[in-house]
Amino acid sequence: MSYRVGIVGATGAVGQELIDLLHRRNFPMAELVLLASSRSAGKTITWQDKSWTVQEATPEAFDDLDIAIFSAGGSTSTDLCPEAAKRGCVAVDNSSAFRMDPTVPLVVPEINPAAARSHQGIIANPNCSTAVALMGLYPLHREFGLKRFTAATYQAVSGAGAAAMAELEDQLRAWAKGEPMTSSEFPYQIAFNLIPHVDVFYDDGYTKEEHKMLNESRKILGHPELRASTTCVRVPVLRAHSIAVNAEFERPVDLARAREVVSLFEGAELVDDTASKRYPMPLDFSGKEKCGVGRMRIDSALDNGLALWIVGDQLWKGAALNAVQIAELLVADKLVTPKTTV
Ligand code: A2P
Repeated sequence: MSYRVGIVGATGAVGQELIDLLHRRNFPMAELVLLASSRSAGKTITWQDKSWTVQEATPEAFDDLDIAIFSAGGSTSTDLCPEAAKRGCVAVDNSSAFRMDPTVPLVVPEINPAAARSHQGIIANPNCSTAVALMGLYPLHREFGLKRFTAATYQAVSGAGAAAMAELEDQLRAWAKGEPMTSSEFPYQIAFNLIPHVDVFYDDGYTKEEHKMLNESRKILGHPELRASTTCVRVPVLRAHSIAVNAEFERPVDLARAREVVSLFEGAELVDDTASKRYPMPLDFSGKEKCGVGRMRIDSALDNGLALWIVGDQLWKGAALNAVQIAELLVADKLVTPKTTV
């Protein structure tokens, strides 16, 4: 059986990865339709020897589609995911628009695949830092019972989209030529800098991104009592987020067993050999499906605590890959019905 698949936001940073991953993972597609804003309608997108004409994402565009993966920002998702669902097209949404909606499952296939069964036409994909953090924390939670964690993120500019990647590259080029740098995607120069501000600030002093890490982790893990305090930081890295985590568990932790459960988890790769200077880094985990976990040690400040360092390609596990894995789950568990059999 093959499916008619749409990508909403096909011209964007995540959209481009979706085109690649759907093909690379041989997703059963009868047709792929690339959608974006009216500004891009008529543009041609090429992947290897194939090319597509981009179409405007309108409600009617979903009439003939079975699955649509959205990565075009919250307002586009708010408007168009319900239109897709109404037309019998399952929307897999990368934006934060529906993640905390109790009627919408928020799914990481390695963690809570069963949640997808209750979908009513929309399935949410988690925030990028949350997905990457959980690839290290989930196997430890299963073994030791996660109580609370603190984390500092080191988030790549691609998390802010294709224009943000171009801004970092332009600033580096300008610096090399001795020219002034300009900023529009970020509030400050990002080259040679760190910006401790991702998404908008809330009254409690945390940002929306930091709230997402707590609230989405609770929903995905089915653990409403989980506590977390995070600081999300944008760094001048093109691709792959890194997260320094200090986690406290209900039960005593054993370091050898902690390393073992991480290495056995399908979403993680243990890279933890400090004697040989081996630890995960963004350059090594760009374009990798698994997230790297290393620098594991007994935490010196917490009871039953572990300190660890997690790195993952947020365009993949934090966005496009997780969305394609959800689409694969829909197919495998017969949670989507093609409108026409091809
Ligand atoms: P467009 O290129 O036509 O603006 P990124 O996250 O890399 O910034 O990409 C955002 C993606 O979301 C782009 O593909 C962009 O298309 C798409 N997009 C933005 N606004 C809309 C909209 N109103 N309808 C559909 N797609 C949109």
